[in-house]
Amino acid sequence: MDIKKAQAGHFYAVGVGPGDPDLLTLRAARIIEDADVILAPQSKKSKNSLALQAIAPLLRDQEVIVSQYPMVRDNSKTRERWGFLAKEVSDRCRRGQSVVQVTLGDPLIFATSSYLMEALAEQIPAEKLHVEPGISAFQMTASRFNEALTLQEDRLLLMSATDLQAVEKALKQCETLVLFKAAGDLPGLLDLLERHNLLQRAKLVSAGGQGEHEVRVADLSRWQPLDLGYMTTMIIHIDKRGWQESVAS
Ligand SMILES: C[S@@+](CC[C@H](N)C(=O)[O-])C[C@H]1O[C@@H](n2cnc3c(N)ncnc32)[C@H](O)[C@@H]1O
Repeated sequence: MDIKKAQAGHFYAVGVGPGDPDLLTLRAARIIEDADVILAPQSKKSKNSLALQAIAPLLRDQEVIVSQYPMVRDNSKTRERWGFLAKEVSDRCRRGQSVVQVTLGDPLIFATSSYLMEALAEQIPAEKLHVEPGISAFQMTASRFNEALTLQEDRLLLMSATDLQAVEKALKQCETLVLFKAAGDLPGLLDLLERHNLLQRAKLVSAGGQGEHEVRVADLSRWQPLDLGYMTTMIIHIDKRGWQESVAS
């Protein structure tokens, strides 16, 4: 088997899965163990980096940089901050170090890695930039309930629950809707699902993989709502589409 290792002067955006230390891929583990520098982004709102916790068993003598990033909806501030971090990363790569940025879930799904990759693309040759996939929170959430996300010609739509009008429109555009950031306005979201008679088809996982903190709800119509944190993902099984005759013929 060709086992990939962290190479000198290269940058890796590595997905570390939703939080359980054993939901990392073998490749992610190998690259993290080999890296010279680990960059772990942390939001200003949280006290610790969940991505860093997920890789704790793999940390030895790597330099660890925990870096806060802006949680503001301002593209120029976001780009400025990531441009600054990209400079730190590219300086290290030029000195021959391997740098890994760890990201919860997958680095290409609602992840800040994309901002850093974009900024790094101007400073590091493409062949030295790598994305290593991780198990996304929506896959972990689905796995808790043993129910298919898609079959036959079902459409799966992934989105953030931050705009409830957009969520309402999406209910008509897919058979399975996955909502990241589902606890932002939970009362509003539950109300919306109730109006569409979908509460009993909606499931959620909050703080998945975080031991006794994990909340798992298989049927929201039978649930007494609690305050949930940012790490909450909801899956709504709206309908089944089945094989479409026009396509089959
Ligand atoms: C910034 S996004 C990161 C998504 C991540 N890149 C992925 O692929 O899962 C944060 C959202 O991911 C979801 N999430 C991440 N970790 C989770 C966990 N352990 N349990 C439940 N949801 C989680 C939540 O919807 C949260 O609001």
